[in-house]
Amino acid sequence: MPKLQLLPLAAGLLAPSIAALGIPSPQEVINTLTHGETHDFCPLAPKVAVPDDGFFSSHRLVVDSEIKSRQIGRLSRAVQVPTTIDDYMKDPNDEKFAPFGDFQELLKTLFPLTHSHAQVDHINKYGLVYTLKGSDDSLKPILLTAHQDVVPINDAADWTYDPFEGHYDGEFLWGRGSSDCKNVLIGLLSAVEDLLSQEWDPTRTVILAFGYDEESHGFLGAGSIDTFLEEKYGPDSFEFVLDEGGMGLETLTPSSDVVYALPGVGEKGSLDVVLTLAVPGGHSSVPPAHTGIGIISEIIYELERQDPFVPVLNTDHPTRKMLECQVRHSPSLVEPWLASALQSTDYVSLAEKLASSRGEKFRFILQTSQAADIIEGGVKSNALPEKIKAVVNYRVALHQTPDVVKNRAVKIITPIVKKYNLSLTAFPDSDEVDPSLNNHLTLTTLSGSLSPAPVSPTDIKKNPVWARFSGVARSVFESVPSLEGKTVVVSGDIMTGNTDTRFYWNLSRNIYRWSPSRAGGALNIHTVDERINVDVHLEALALYYDLIRSFDSWEGEDSVFDADSDEPAHDML
Ligand SMILES: *[C@@H]1O[C@H](CO)[C@@H](O)[C@H](O)[C@H]1NC(C)=O
Ligand SMILES: *[C@@H]1O[C@H](CO)[C@@H](O)[C@H](O)[C@H]1NC(C)=O
Ligand SMILES: [Zn+2]
Repeated sequence: MPKLQLLPLAAGLLAPSIAALGIPSPQEVINTLTHGETHDFCPLAPKVAVPDDGFFSSHRLVVDSEIKSRQIGRLSRAVQVPTTIDDYMKDPNDEKFAPFGDFQELLKTLFPLTHSHAQVDHINKYGLVYTLKGSDDSLKPILLTAHQDVVPINDAADWTYDPFEGHYDGEFLWGRGSSDCKNVLIGLLSAVEDLLSQEWDPTRTVILAFGYDEESHGFLGAGSIDTFLEEKYGPDSFEFVLDEGGMGLETLTPSSDVVYALPGVGEKGSLDVVLTLAVPGGHSSVPPAHTGIGIISEIIYELERQDPFVPVLNTDHPTRKMLECQVRHSPSLVEPWLASALQSTDYVSLAEKLASSRGEKFRFILQTSQAADIIEGGVKSNALPEKIKAVVNYRVALHQTPDVVKNRAVKIITPIVKKYNLSLTAFPDSDEVDPSLNNHLTLTTLSGSLSPAPVSPTDIKKNPVWARFSGVARSVFESVPSLEGKTVVVSGDIMTGNTDTRFYWNLSRNIYRWSPSRAGGALNIHTVDERINVDVHLEALALYYDLIRSFDSWEGEDSVFDADSDEPAHDML
């Protein structure tokens, strides 16, 4: 995933005592929010008991010391192969991709059963698709994905252990890719390998797909894999897609008994706006009042000053459900005003109040972000700049589109263009800039723009796939030793960055981005000392193992149920 996603939680909100603050009782809160109809308010999917398939319990994966050392060995060796990618690697035949070949040789030795049972397709050279064909073609396949590539190292000397050593310190496994996301890739293959070692014969087809340039937009890997899968299976052909990402497993306070499991069920959109300005040069002893650098600076200044983006929490925003769940399951740990504020139809003020209370990371789940990231221009102190370029990055919130962002930019820039008697070409069909134009500003994008992802449905009464997925997640995480005795509340949320799933929208409407990790379990993604708690890795492995089993011969749509009928008692307040 391109950026560490951590949900800012309201730590420290637990002030004096509930009564002293005039906090309503949990029942009052629920009544306020639901007008008495408690069954519609953050209902939890029932836990899913794994089928009686005779395979060993997933519990063994998290407690067996032999399995643990096996996983340490597998993940460590995977980290040792430096499958780094940079933004200039655009040709799979480039020598720089050679480590991906080594990595795939390693996978063959680590997962011999998978390689002998699965059909392995190599897509666009290094994309990997493993197909474990099921016996029942009427069941939609499931697609489990990860990426093979990792971000480059800035300076290996800054690391506590060499970034490609795969060092295990007794708790954490260190190195580039250990938590983004060779842990996911190795976890998925291990789940399949373990099932095959027990003579698993799939009923439902399981497909593992691993791109190789996710950290550089994913066009070579996931982009090609999507074409392959769409041609082979058609649109909307997968029961669900599970990729890396999401916000892990969080608690509002470290000692809280309620754990929020937060798969990403949507992603913000994104685009980079490139401003290219061409103006006449000349000697700097006879300058115009504003050089090209001055003009570009004015544009950026106005983009930052005018018509600021605001946060919005619409009724259909997944974060609203997450907040409702917090009100219901952790009423004493959230803002005392939250329950009544959530009833407001002023979605902007509500969002602003929440963003002020919870911090900037939370804000940008609800608000389009704008960051001027690159500016270039000028070559010499005695020559006027002739070509000036700036790049402004936007992450588009769910209530907006890339076109809204582009139109806003044009509206703000047009008066400046007029003021300096420049001409403007805004977002032509091709992103090329005509070099012959002078006194001219061109607005283009870097590799197009990405709309916010369609939000995967999370109504457990209407979407049995989500109900089952979240029910399995509850079962697995409520039974791992590290979370013993806790209640796991599964709620979808939104990612501010993008994953390879941007290519998979047509394959399924149920797309989940989730590398499940407890707070502090997966550290320093994309920076020095990246590492993963090995127990966290084993817990994810247990989830993959039980998900495959639970969906293996499940009939799907028939299993719509009344959410509250078999709720375990401890889920109720
Ligand atoms: C503006 O530019 C046009 C064409 O480049 C030129 O003909 C005109 O004289 C300019 N006007 C001013 C006020 O500089
Ligand atoms: C999904 O399908 C539509 C229509 O065929 C196509 O235009 C679009 O690019 C596809 N989207 C993705 C993400 O592949
Ligand atoms: Zn990643």
